Amino acid sequence: MTKHSAVLTGLGAWLPPRVVDNDELARRLDTSEEWIRTRTGIRARHIADPETSTVDMAVRAGENALRSAGCDVVDALVLATTTPDQLCPASAPQVASGLGLSGIAAVDVNAVCSGFVYALATAAGLIAGEIADRVMVVGSDAFSRLCDPDDRTTVPIFGDGAGAVVLRVGLADEPGAFGPFDLHSEGEHADLLMVPAGGAKQRTSDDPHEHFVTMHGTAVFRHACARMTESARTVLDRAGMSLGEVDRFVGHQANIRILQATAKRLGLGEERLVVNIGHTGNTSAASIPLALADGCEEGSIQPGHRVLMTAFGAGLTWGSTVLTWPDVKPAR
Ligand code: COA
Repeated sequence: MTKHSAVLTGLGAWLPPRVVDNDELARRLDTSEEWIRTRTGIRARHIADPETSTVDMAVRAGENALRSAGCDVVDALVLATTTPDQLCPASAPQVASGLGLSGIAAVDVNAVCSGFVYALATAAGLIAGEIADRVMVVGSDAFSRLCDPDDRTTVPIFGDGAGAVVLRVGLADEPGAFGPFDLHSEGEHADLLMVPAGGAKQRTSDDPHEHFVTMHGTAVFRHACARMTESARTVLDRAGMSLGEVDRFVGHQANIRILQATAKRLGLGEERLVVNIGHTGNTSAASIPLALADGCEEGSIQPGHRVLMTAFGAGLTWGSTVLTWPDVKPAR
């Protein structure tokens, strides 16, 4: 068998120490602890202090992933983020440099909450194309920075954090080898979740709200359930797997009701869902690796489990991949 598959060999996580619970938000916003918990499944989220940036969080998660993988170097780094430290340049080179890996290939991928799956696919392509033997994939987002602090419709949902994995070249049939990917986008729905100002089209706006994320929550919710269901089915079909063979479903942690509705449509029992949104909120590109780390530490994800990962995000973007969980322990 050709040795050009991407194999997961390390997993790292990092969450900012400051925890903001629903009660704290209910004291300053027109909301309640119960509304947030029952409508989203979120009880608390980690928020980065002003001195901690997306690059800082990515470096910490990356260091942990290298420790988990038992290696010091990679050939390339793909950073999934929607909150780069600057609009220009990309943040990935600064992450590589922060890891002591200056000189390696480093690039940002922005697919918002689907970013981690897109970045995994990019990394798998670098390995399959014999461009790199070891690639780090980091999902890091300080999404709280994009939320209007007075907006009760977005502040409760988003949290900050970073997760990272190390992929190495290996065999398609070994544990940890990524199976097929399924990736999609629909730019005609870009306005459903958008930060209107601050990009090159509209550098600044007199309306300060345009510098924060605006979201049509109900429409996003409906698209998320439909697309995650579709993508999960497609990737399993490509992998020649049935839903009955899926041990754990690690979906993007946007809202527990989206995960439950998707699982129901797929006919997956809730015992197969990995859910950590209660203490993280929606951490955008960091969501899937943080859920993987929590799932492993809680014993919900075990070596040999067939793990289906499905993400959905602004763009719109969505995608899935699947792998058999290797004997990898997360590091924090
Ligand atoms: N506290 C109290 N009430 C709130 C509230 C809050 N934090 N946020 C919204 N509401 C109100 C709304 O104003 C609305 O009031 P109205 O009926 O008087 O107009 C009511 O609650 C219901 O709002 P609605 O948006 O229909 O609620 P919902 O059940 O759809 O839940 C979301 C709202 C945002 C939690 C849900 O739509 C969602 O999770 N969407 C997906 C968001 C997402 O995942 N984004 C990231 C994509 S990767």
